[in-house]
Amino acid sequence: SSTVARDAEGVATVGGIDVKALAAEFGTPAYVMDEADFRARARAWRDAFGEGADVYYAGKAFLSKAIVRWLHEEGLNLDVCSAGELGVALAAGMPGERIALHGNNKSPDELEQAVKAGVGHIVVDSYQEIDRLAAIAAAQGVRQPVLIRVTVGVEAHTHEFIATAHEDQKFGLSLSGGRAAEAVRRTLAHPSLELRGIHSHIGSQIFDTAGFEVAARRVVNLLVQVRDEHGVELPEIDLGGGLGIAYTSEDDPRTPAEIAASLAEIVRRECAAASLNAPRLSVEPGRAIVGPTAFTLYEVGTIKPLDGLRTYVSVDGGMSDNIRTALYDAEYSVALVSRTSEAEPMLVRVVGKHCESGDIVVRDAFLPADLTPGDLIAVPATGAYCRSMASNYNHALKPPVLAVLDGAARVIVRRETEEDLLRLDIG
Ligand code: LLP
Repeated sequence: SSTVARDAEGVATVGGIDVKALAAEFGTPAYVMDEADFRARARAWRDAFGEGADVYYAGKAFLSKAIVRWLHEEGLNLDVCSAGELGVALAAGMPGERIALHGNNKSPDELEQAVKAGVGHIVVDSYQEIDRLAAIAAAQGVRQPVLIRVTVGVEAHTHEFIATAHEDQKFGLSLSGGRAAEAVRRTLAHPSLELRGIHSHIGSQIFDTAGFEVAARRVVNLLVQVRDEHGVELPEIDLGGGLGIAYTSEDDPRTPAEIAASLAEIVRRECAAASLNAPRLSVEPGRAIVGPTAFTLYEVGTIKPLDGLRTYVSVDGGMSDNIRTALYDAEYSVALVSRTSEAEPMLVRVVGKHCESGDIVVRDAFLPADLTPGDLIAVPATGAYCRSMASNYNHALKPPVLAVLDGAARVIVRRETEEDLLRLDIG
């Protein structure tokens, strides 16, 4: 993995700490995050896009107060999609104007809180929401900046559940059907809304730049249409997140610099062709920043060889801390980290402790044949959409998130306790 290193004796370390010592001090399962790696990835996005653009980290991938502070310090903005995420952002001191709010069905309460917090913009996603938000902003005496989320009609090559720009899904207002243009008309008609631009997000875990380029072209075309129809040049476009990361050695993701260069070029060219002033660009990477920065540390509990098939290795977590394998057929790798081994590799399936057979963490992988209960294994690239999608299935307690930096480890989100769960159960 990118964050687990081996020292000269083969001891697995992260951020200068022996992984075994982390397990001894904080227990397993645990998400272990490399703070320096997170900051470096955040900076790489900022540097790639430069001063003429804004990078909004997508908090849905993983959000905590420490993360918000790191983002703030590294000069990134934050995209939130619920009052809960907004609350974390504000609690950690992110200025309202550096926050954007998303969602296809934000509640009136959420809209009200966002307007009150002075968020930089709200991305509106339906006609009803345009009217609802206009009324809320008017009541607060505010002129609220908004972007309109459009559906650009791109078939992103990714899992169906995380593709979002084809026509038949719940997000956005369709460009081809004219609903996006109608949303522009309706937004411009509200004095309490300030239409700043257009937003598109085509999906997630995407490897080629082609889809982003088509989206950029279509969004700029809408800006041209808006200028021609209304005589206003909208100053911003947001092309969303979605850049894929390497979960296994087979994946070959694009870098932030590659994405930035191709988007800047397309926008520049399309605008020049239409004599349009180039809008300010923003992007919303989540997975590409936080995904590779963490691994999940598990302890092996049982080992069950199925003759001629594979060996089932059960760990002390499972689908409650990583639902991605069950939900999207996601692929992960795994490594033995508590010791070195010269034993032959054996084909394993890493499974959890939950009461269903789909409770798989790593579908196919190799671990040394002398694996024993008590060994520690690490599953890399679990920083995105694992803790944030964790559940209490079977009353599992959500694992802590540890941050390591320069040889020191600290808990940034503590492990849940049985009292935490019982406190909610007031019957
Ligand atoms: N912007 C918007 C409007 C989004 O909906 C998303 C992700 C992002 C940005 C960030 O996308 P990223 O850069 O992280 O790919 N739970 C799924 C992923 C769902 C993504 C939802 N929206 C998974 O575990 O693969």
